[in-house]
Amino acid sequence: MRFGHFDDAAREYVIETPRTPYPWINYLGTEEFFGLVSHTGGGYCFYRDARLRRLTRYRYNNVPTDVGGRYYYVHDSGDYWTPGWAPVKRELDFYECRVGLSYTKITGERKGIRAEVLYFVPLGTNAEVHRVILKNTAQAAKSVKLFSFVEFCLWDAWDDQTNYQRNFSIGEVEVDGSTIYHKTEYRERRNHYAVHSVNAQVAGFDTDRESFLGPWNGFGEPQAVAEGKSRNSVASGWQPIGSHQLAVDLAPGEEKSFVFVLGYVENPVEEKWEKPGVVNKKAARELLARFQTTGQVDAALGALRDYWTEMLSKYTVKSGDERLDRMVNIWNPYQCMVTFNMSRSASYFETGIGRGMGFRDSNQDLLGFVHLVPARARERLLDTAATQKPDGSAYHQYQPLTKRGNDAVGSGFNDDPLWLVSGAAAYVKESGDFGILREVVPFDNDPKDTATLFEHLKRSFHHVLKNLGPHGLPLIGRADWNDCLNLNCFSDTPGESFQTTGNRTGRTAESVFIAGLFVHVAPDYAALAEAMGFADEAKAAREHAARMEKTVLEHGWDGEWFLRAYDFFGKKVGSKECEDGQIFIETQGYCVMAGIGVASGLAKKALDSARDRLETAHGIVLNQPAYKEYHLELGEISSYPPGYKENAGIFCHNNPWIMIAETVIGRGDRAFALWKKIAPAYREEISEVHRLEPYTYAQMIAGKDAVRHGEAKNSWLTGTAAWNFVAISQHILGVKPELEGLRVNPCIGREVPTFTIVRKCRGAEYRITVANKATGKPAKLVVDGKPIEGTLVPYAKAGSVVTIACEA
Ligand code: GLC
Ligand code: GLC
Repeated sequence: MRFGHFDDAAREYVIETPRTPYPWINYLGTEEFFGLVSHTGGGYCFYRDARLRRLTRYRYNNVPTDVGGRYYYVHDSGDYWTPGWAPVKRELDFYECRVGLSYTKITGERKGIRAEVLYFVPLGTNAEVHRVILKNTAQAAKSVKLFSFVEFCLWDAWDDQTNYQRNFSIGEVEVDGSTIYHKTEYRERRNHYAVHSVNAQVAGFDTDRESFLGPWNGFGEPQAVAEGKSRNSVASGWQPIGSHQLAVDLAPGEEKSFVFVLGYVENPVEEKWEKPGVVNKKAARELLARFQTTGQVDAALGALRDYWTEMLSKYTVKSGDERLDRMVNIWNPYQCMVTFNMSRSASYFETGIGRGMGFRDSNQDLLGFVHLVPARARERLLDTAATQKPDGSAYHQYQPLTKRGNDAVGSGFNDDPLWLVSGAAAYVKESGDFGILREVVPFDNDPKDTATLFEHLKRSFHHVLKNLGPHGLPLIGRADWNDCLNLNCFSDTPGESFQTTGNRTGRTAESVFIAGLFVHVAPDYAALAEAMGFADEAKAAREHAARMEKTVLEHGWDGEWFLRAYDFFGKKVGSKECEDGQIFIETQGYCVMAGIGVASGLAKKALDSARDRLETAHGIVLNQPAYKEYHLELGEISSYPPGYKENAGIFCHNNPWIMIAETVIGRGDRAFALWKKIAPAYREEISEVHRLEPYTYAQMIAGKDAVRHGEAKNSWLTGTAAWNFVAISQHILGVKPELEGLRVNPCIGREVPTFTIVRKCRGAEYRITVANKATGKPAKLVVDGKPIEGTLVPYAKAGSVVTIACEA
């Protein structure tokens, strides 16, 4: 069952009913000012940091689910309603929400009035622009009242939700004509305020929540709106809001358009005040002047469209399968950019007050967005590397505002350092910027302890070698990629962190996954070492990798599949000897991606085992059998009820590892089938089961042991975005930048017989036409009319166009 449809020409998803199974959201903003907006207008916005500079309030886990937003109320002769349906929930004659690239447009119509609200953040602007168009679709003239509404957050979202004894006394605003200034705490240490304005004369306003809503009322029944009359309230403490009232007369067929701006303004400390107690409004007025006319708004929206058109032109496919095309050309890269901007901070599942940027998450996100914004990937890499510790280990997280490692979580997730190598290699491949390897980067942000980026990679690589366990496999530390496999934690106290409590620092628990990751990144690391002129280091790295591969085959193979780990006591995890958790997805994927067991046929065996034991109609579950009870020696993984999250949920992040592994052994049909199982555009048809947005991946789909098998959770901010893009674009469709050239080697199976790809890389454009016979063998390439040996097309000069005919 669907709740809307894709409009590919407009690059939009069109939600046709407000009664979706869950709020379906979108993101506004591409630089420093961001908003989350649901299909009913719910959500909030912030400047740079979702916790510390939140402009508007949002109540997570509320009843009903999506409470608080930027709302527009229409009052029409005693009747009042909201175009997004909620919060008033009056029946609409027409409803539509167009989810676009960094904008959302909600249209509602009732009794002859059509209201369209467009939300976006213009480029180069620290503000949301809301363009509201009211149209009289009736036969008679109408006089309606339009009310805007936002509820201000007192900046620090955490404090805002906890510290009421103070907060109910500090709220302050100024009202100046059609503009409302939210200036709580500006009198003391803050030098920023929020501005909320409209480009028309107001008939009234409100800035005090209770005056607007009336005591005991919710957002669905504001008394001021019901009576069609603002109170002109000026907030003093309690809850400051911003609401304008406009009187709008409309002849039959007539429409009028209004521009509302909700922005963030910062003043130099010495220029805070216009006169004592009155905020300096100069910067706000400059901001508002940029959005006075609909012409200005149209131009800004056009610029935003062009921004996305240019960005998305880096990789495009035309395959004849519209769902494949829309995932690759529009929605998957869009999600990659959102995860780049948000990391894991603010979604409808992440409150924006929790964790910072993950070290491993950031490096994996980079794999998905590096081709879109290489320069910003470079900056992200250097920031991340600067949090690495001198011994090669890494803070698990760092704070985006300070860019410093987070001491509360600390380090000891032993896969972390290797992801830096993956990220750096991906960046150099995409950009050809070998110079980054010589950039001087501090350790632990200490300006006195610095080294080249390459030296950071070297310490990452050797951190693994310095931390090997009894079988010669890498020690796992607090956890590896699977944050919930905590083999050194042994937590028996409710509420303790599974990752950071009681770490036994034992040097016994080992990870076969980290071994696979190590073997996988080693060739890239060696190639980068060679590029630096360190031939000996390159040679040594290759030898270490060969040794690790042998160790995996000797101690990491269980007979039918790869083991997952050895626990603190040296007992196997992910083995047929175990009662639960006999087989895990991660090592089947990563070890085969690394090429382990490919020559001997063990790789195929491992993937067959994964297929037979882990695959479901909704994707591949993480482990089987699910843990039925809590295991002190395994940690958080066994804390989840069977089928959810890391305990046998379908973790969409690691499904692509199996897809890529399938292409390694030439099974393109398997890879493509697996990709389609979790790709949202293909799951659109079962939206009533999947329940979350059909245009974006979710972190998890409930596994077969779960009561709610097939239901997704945690949409938007997940490494799933990057990895699925890597799987489909680089391995299945098969166009992947390498250090020396563009690899063209599709492996997609029979279903897609022909397709074309345009890939822009290092300033040149590659036009690839694929005749796909699904041979399972390396592709044959004709480049600019000449057949070449192998599948690597040497990079062409910037500005050139290369034509490639490919037979796969
Ligand atoms: C979450 C974390 C990621 C981790 C994964 C598996 O997605 O952000 O770092 O690898 O869960 O536990
Ligand atoms: C929890 C989540 C896991 C996530 C981790 C991040 O363990 O279950 O998915 O990776 O928190 O710290």
